[in-house]
Amino acid sequence: MNREKLRVGIIGTGFIAGTQHIPAILKLKDRMEIVAVADNRPEALEHIHKVYGIDKLYTDPMKMLEENTFDLVHVCTANNTHKLFSIAALRAGANVLCEKPLALTKKDAQEMLYEAKKAGKVLMTCQNSRIGGVQALKKIVDNGTLGEVYYTEIENIRRRGVPTWGRFHTQADNGGGPFCDLGVHYLDSALYVLGNPIFTSVSANTFSKLANTYDCNQETLPAMTGKQPFLPRDDYDRNEFDVEDYATGLVRYENGMQMQMKFAWAVNLPRADAYRFAGTKQGLVYRKGEGLENPASLYGQDGDNLLNTEVEIDITKPGAMDDFGHYGIIKNITDVILGEGERLITPEEMVNVAAIIEAFYLSSKENREVRAEELENFVEP
Ligand SMILES: NC(=O)c1ccc[n+]([C@@H]2O[C@H](COP(=O)([O-])OP(=O)(O)OC[C@H]3O[C@@H](n4cnc5c(N)ncnc54)[C@H](O)[C@@H]3O)[C@@H](O)[C@H]2O)c1
Repeated sequence: MNREKLRVGIIGTGFIAGTQHIPAILKLKDRMEIVAVADNRPEALEHIHKVYGIDKLYTDPMKMLEENTFDLVHVCTANNTHKLFSIAALRAGANVLCEKPLALTKKDAQEMLYEAKKAGKVLMTCQNSRIGGVQALKKIVDNGTLGEVYYTEIENIRRRGVPTWGRFHTQADNGGGPFCDLGVHYLDSALYVLGNPIFTSVSANTFSKLANTYDCNQETLPAMTGKQPFLPRDDYDRNEFDVEDYATGLVRYENGMQMQMKFAWAVNLPRADAYRFAGTKQGLVYRKGEGLENPASLYGQDGDNLLNTEVEIDITKPGAMDDFGHYGIIKNITDVILGEGERLITPEEMVNVAAIIEAFYLSSKENREVRAEELENFVEP
C-alpha cells in the first residue's frame, strides 16, 4: 500500500471513541484521517462534531459503510453489536479494529476471523492493556527470569465502580458485567505475557448481589464530571442491572498452569488491581492500578536468602497507567495495514480469550466445570 493516509470510519462515538480512539487517530494524522463517524444517538454525533470538528456524521452505521470507502473501521459500540458491525465493515472492504471483547463465544470469534480471512483484511481487537507495563512483564517472562510459570492470579476489584456512562449494566447490551469488561483485559494481557497457553477447563461463579440493590458507582462517578469529549448516556439504573457485579474463576491450561481470577464492579472487599505470576525461579507481581510508586517486584531465593527485587517499569510511559494504550494498538494496526509491522494481537489469542469468556459464563450458569472441547466451533462454509 502506498503512503496515502488511511481512510478511517468510526462506529460508536461514546466514551471510548471520544476519549481514546479519536485522540489517538489525531496523533497519527500523518498516516490516517477520519472520514466519517456513525452513532445512533444524533446528540452524541453533534457533541463529537463540536469537540473534534468531524463533519460527516451518520445515525446509521450501515449507511456510512455503503456511502464511503474505508481502509479501517473502528467498532466502538457496546458489546452486543461488535460482531454485526465488524463483519459488515469487513464485507465493505475495510480492515477492522474492534473494541474489546471481540466476541463472547469461541464460535463468534472464529466466524469474525473467517470473514476477515475471506475479505483478505485485518481484524484485530483493541486489547490496549497490553501496551506499556504489560510489555515489560512479557520481556521478564520471555527471558526466563521466572523459570516455569505454574500459577497466575489476575484481579481488578472495584468496591463500588459500575460504569456510569454507557449500557454496561445490561445483558442485552454488554452480555456480562466486570468479567467481560475488566476481566477481558487482564485475561488477554496475562495470556500475552505467558505466550498464549491454551485453556483446558474453566470453573467460575458470577454474583449479582449489590449493584442491583444500591447505587454502586462512587468510584466511577468522579470520572464523569466536568467536560467530556463525548456525550455520556444516562447513569446506570440499578433497576435495570442484570449482569454480574462480581466474577471469580479458575482456569486450567494445557501446560498444567492454573489461573485464578477476580473481577468486581461492586463487592465488599478492598480495592485491588494486580497480576501475580509464580514461577520455579522467581515470582513476579505487578500491582498495576494501586497507585504505588513502583508497582512491580520479583520474589525469589538465593541460597538461604529470600530475595525481593523491585523491577523498573516506567509507569509514566504511554499505556502504563492513565493512558489506555489505544495509541499503541492503533499505531500497530496501521503498521500492519501498511505492511510495516507484525500484528500485536493474533487470531489464536483472540479465539483463546473468547473461548475462555464463553466457558466462564457457561460454568457460572450451570454451576460446574466446563471443558474446552465442549464449546461449539464455527464451521467454515
Ligand atoms: N479498551 C478499553 O479500555 C475500553 C474502555 C471502555 C469501553 N470499552 C469498550 O468500548 C465499547 C463501547 O464502550 P463505551 O464505554 O464507549 O460505551 P458508550 O455507551 O459510551 O459508547 C457506545 C456508543 O455506541 C453507540 N451505539 C450503540 N449501539 C449502536 C448502534 N446499534 N448503532 C450505532 N451506534 C450505536 C452509543 O450511542 C454510544 O454512543 C464497549 O465494547 C466497551 O467494552 C473499551
